[in-house]
Amino acid sequence: MLSVRRSRAPLGAEIAGIDLSGEVDARTFRDIVELFHQHEVVCFPDQKLTPEQHVAFSTRFGEIWMHHRTDCCRPGYPEIFVVSNIVENGRPIGSRDAGVFWHSDFCYVKEPARASLLYAREVPQKDGGPLGDTLFASMTTAYEALPDATKRRLEGLKAVNSYSRGYYRDRKSGPRRELTEEQKSITPDVEHPVARTHPYTGKKCLFVNEGYTTRIVGMSETESEALLAELFAHVARPEFVYRHRWRVGDLVMWDNCSTQHRAVMDYALPQRRHMERTTLHGTAPF
Ligand code: OGA
Ligand code: MN
Repeated sequence: MLSVRRSRAPLGAEIAGIDLSGEVDARTFRDIVELFHQHEVVCFPDQKLTPEQHVAFSTRFGEIWMHHRTDCCRPGYPEIFVVSNIVENGRPIGSRDAGVFWHSDFCYVKEPARASLLYAREVPQKDGGPLGDTLFASMTTAYEALPDATKRRLEGLKAVNSYSRGYYRDRKSGPRRELTEEQKSITPDVEHPVARTHPYTGKKCLFVNEGYTTRIVGMSETESEALLAELFAHVARPEFVYRHRWRVGDLVMWDNCSTQHRAVMDYALPQRRHMERTTLHGTAPF
């Protein structure tokens, strides 16, 4: 039996009472999908997953995205992107951080990721509590809370999302490796609606983020900068945010259409963090 506990925020729920290492029957799986769409971020605590089991559960939802940063994938598992500050034999085992600014995963491709499933293997600790929380903001709630005039203003607008700009902007935790020309060429800039419709729930979601959105199409630079600044400040309002405090064994699944997220970098070696992520293919925003 699934046992569901909502967070106090407008998004986020914990789903206990299920072991994801084994077969999940069709009916339970349908319930999970429904809970996921309802709560936008769900956490399955106390999981003991091999990489194969993590991949197998993720595949139930659809096809897994193979990350273009193959240097950050778990050796032998192109489906698994490693987020970690651990260095082994002089080589980082993954991406040290995966976004210290608000973003959604793969928002910079034509068909952005539907969802991501991040599994906690090692969580940094201090004084008996976890460090390295992840913040999630509800983009359905943020859209709903906009003044009507702003909603009307956003109708039909598109914005440019750029991988390389976001990548180089993310320097808070130190200099980054150069992208290869090939890595750049497989991620050209894309245009997406500023407010998109959720493909499953039909709800409107704000879809611009401070990480990757560079400008609004068809606006002067000044006007675009001003509108984006207003929207970026709006989406990060504390009343839209759920803060996840990690425990080893958490599998957290988030919706990249109805939420944005941001990593909190408040730890450093020897405090180790080791997370592994699968990411699901999505559909073109409309
Ligand atoms: C990610 C990501 C945040 C974190 O894996 O996509 O943004 O806290 N992670 O690790
Ligand atoms: Mn991310």
